[in-house]
Amino acid sequence: MSSMNPNKALWEKGDFTRIAETMRESGEALVQRLGITKGMKVLDLGCGDGTTALPAAKLGAEVLGVDIAHNLVEAGNKRAAKRGLTNLKFQEGDASNLEQLPDKNFDLVISVFGAMFAPKPFDVAKEMVRVTRPGGRIVMGNWIPNDPTLVAQILKISSSYTPPPPEGFVSPMTWGVEGNVIERFAAAGVPAEKISFARDTFIFNFSGTPSGFVDEFRKYYGPTMNAFEAAEKNGRSAELQKELEELFNRQNKGTGVTSIPATFLRVTVAV
Ligand SMILES: C[S@@+](CC[C@H](N)C(=O)[O-])C[C@H]1O[C@@H](n2cnc3c(N)ncnc32)[C@H](O)[C@@H]1O
Repeated sequence: MSSMNPNKALWEKGDFTRIAETMRESGEALVQRLGITKGMKVLDLGCGDGTTALPAAKLGAEVLGVDIAHNLVEAGNKRAAKRGLTNLKFQEGDASNLEQLPDKNFDLVISVFGAMFAPKPFDVAKEMVRVTRPGGRIVMGNWIPNDPTLVAQILKISSSYTPPPPEGFVSPMTWGVEGNVIERFAAAGVPAEKISFARDTFIFNFSGTPSGFVDEFRKYYGPTMNAFEAAEKNGRSAELQKELEELFNRQNKGTGVTSIPATFLRVTVAV
């Protein structure tokens, strides 16, 4: 369904649950390392269908997942219901404007490859800080521009086939640059000393071939779907397909199945 908000339309276009299915192990492993305890109040921003929200709830936290895509919120609530997790709720919202959420409410705000995709990054930083209680933490996972691993390269290749974004558009990948992160949180009142950075890895596990995994992105991942639509208009879709297949094959570490590691920047902010 089309939408007036291009950011929302991008993520409602496909079915990100298909990609998320390949990210569950790494999502769970990351959450295990966050020191989540029973009763902790957790917000997962740009949560998708709950790759990190669901394991956080299994650890006993009170979890709210917020995502701009209606279909992913619905998928998340179905997953929570199926597992009987009454401490996990998903609702629609925009990371650039969390007006429905009160100040100083959460012990932990997680956003793994989520809030980075929202427009207005300074507003996003401000909102994340606003809803975190003093003494609480924000943990972001952000893809790194020009990194040689999978997702940065998919997004780079996809954007080279897509028409240039409108004037003033800030690339989501800028969240993978430490200087930008520091500047955005500084504007939200958090000094650089309270921010720490680490390189981390997510592994995508797909029970098929690397080319089969490319097909999943082509059919279900908004940014890649848009790239193929644009490439088709210019007769370049075979070229795009080939470039992605080469990338996925090159990066694959699995045999018989597809297993592809991708590097990201983990940002921890003490509020
Ligand atoms: C790459 S997916 C990651 C989803 C999930 N965090 C995971 O790791 O599986 C990006 C998510 O961010 C959401 N998103 C994009 N822009 C957003 C915004 N402005 N506010 C809230 N969520 C947003 C998308 O709908 C999508 O679910």
